[in-house]
Amino acid sequence: MTGVVVDGVTKAFGATPVLHGVSLTAPVGTLTAVLGRSGCGKTTLLRIVAGFDRPDTGTVVVQGRPVAGPGRVLPPERRGIGYLTQEGSLFPHLTVAANVLFGLPWRERRRGDARVAALLETVDLEPSLARRHPHELSGGQQQRVALARALAPEPAVVLLDEPFSSLDAGLRADTQRAVVKALAAAGATALLVTHDRAEALGLADQVAVMRDGVIAQVDAPGTIYRDPVDPHVGTLVGDAVLLDGRHDGAGAVSCALGVLAARPGRAGIPVAAGPVRVLVRPEQIGVGTAGGGVRARVRSRDFRGPDATVELDLEAPGALGAEVVTARLPGDAAVAPGDDVPVTVRGAVTVYAV
Ligand SMILES: Nc1ncnc2c1ncn2[C@@H]1O[C@H](COP(=O)(O)OP(=O)(O)O)[C@@H](O)[C@H]1O
Ligand SMILES: [Mg+2]
Repeated sequence: MTGVVVDGVTKAFGATPVLHGVSLTAPVGTLTAVLGRSGCGKTTLLRIVAGFDRPDTGTVVVQGRPVAGPGRVLPPERRGIGYLTQEGSLFPHLTVAANVLFGLPWRERRRGDARVAALLETVDLEPSLARRHPHELSGGQQQRVALARALAPEPAVVLLDEPFSSLDAGLRADTQRAVVKALAAAGATALLVTHDRAEALGLADQVAVMRDGVIAQVDAPGTIYRDPVDPHVGTLVGDAVLLDGRHDGAGAVSCALGVLAARPGRAGIPVAAGPVRVLVRPEQIGVGTAGGGVRARVRSRDFRGPDATVELDLEAPGALGAEVVTARLPGDAAVAPGDDVPVTVRGAVTVYAV
């Protein structure tokens, strides 16, 4: 049995189509990140899974049970789904304890103290916070309370709509950790919507990239980062240098960065020799004293502490023309604007037929 299966879901608002046939399978007990730009339809997808909106066509199956599809609509409260919004939306006039118990039937709310304490512990909060009101909590604490409330009815599926985007960086990392731990402890199947690639790659078991109302690729974080199906997915999941190149048909590509080992994108290898698009990750590019590679002039250096972003002017040989590429170098790399440096590329680069 799978946790959530969305199959061929379309949705338009008036004359504006938003979802064009979304298909996505979330295995039981796993965390799937749905990654896409703002406005691409992520919230619409979650609302359809939750039951707040109906799909125009297509089906949704939750824990083996069809909940939306032709002639069938199960109301949200009967789907066994917890929903966590961006703001958490706690009731401001209720204590933390009352917020957490809010979704439970009356008979379960009696003797709720132990339940509240256990749920707060799950989300890494002190039991003493139970008596406070939301305004007496930090943003991260509020989000954890909202998650505790969503988990209280023990839903099999939890939907999280950009739950960390309003938190500042320090709080965000702690809150993310607590939330992922709580979801795992609850054994819940989770769909986490985000436009933050680091969050998607860092937290999820699988990342689904959403684009133009469809899912462009679903894969494990390492796979989707290394083997994106096309250059666009590649740039959505990480910084990328895209170059024109020529594949020799035997696993080597020549481009402005030299002759490099080529790996096919997941969509398939361009077996034929010919023009290709080349995707290189900035951290694959190095500069050093070792000769052999192409040469470049350092255009700028943006120091970030552990690493530095360095723009390199490449003088490409032949007809490929000059290119500017961005490399991510260790912060202590001794390069300065104006330096003339040899450039090397570590590992294989991904090529796409054009
Ligand atoms: N209830 C609605 N009525 C009309 N248009 C909507 C409605 N909800 C969302 N949209 C539109 O659908 C598109 C996708 O919205 P949304 O699912 O919220 O995207 P995301 O969550 O990825 O930012 C947007 O263009 C948005 O304006
Ligand atoms: Mg949204």
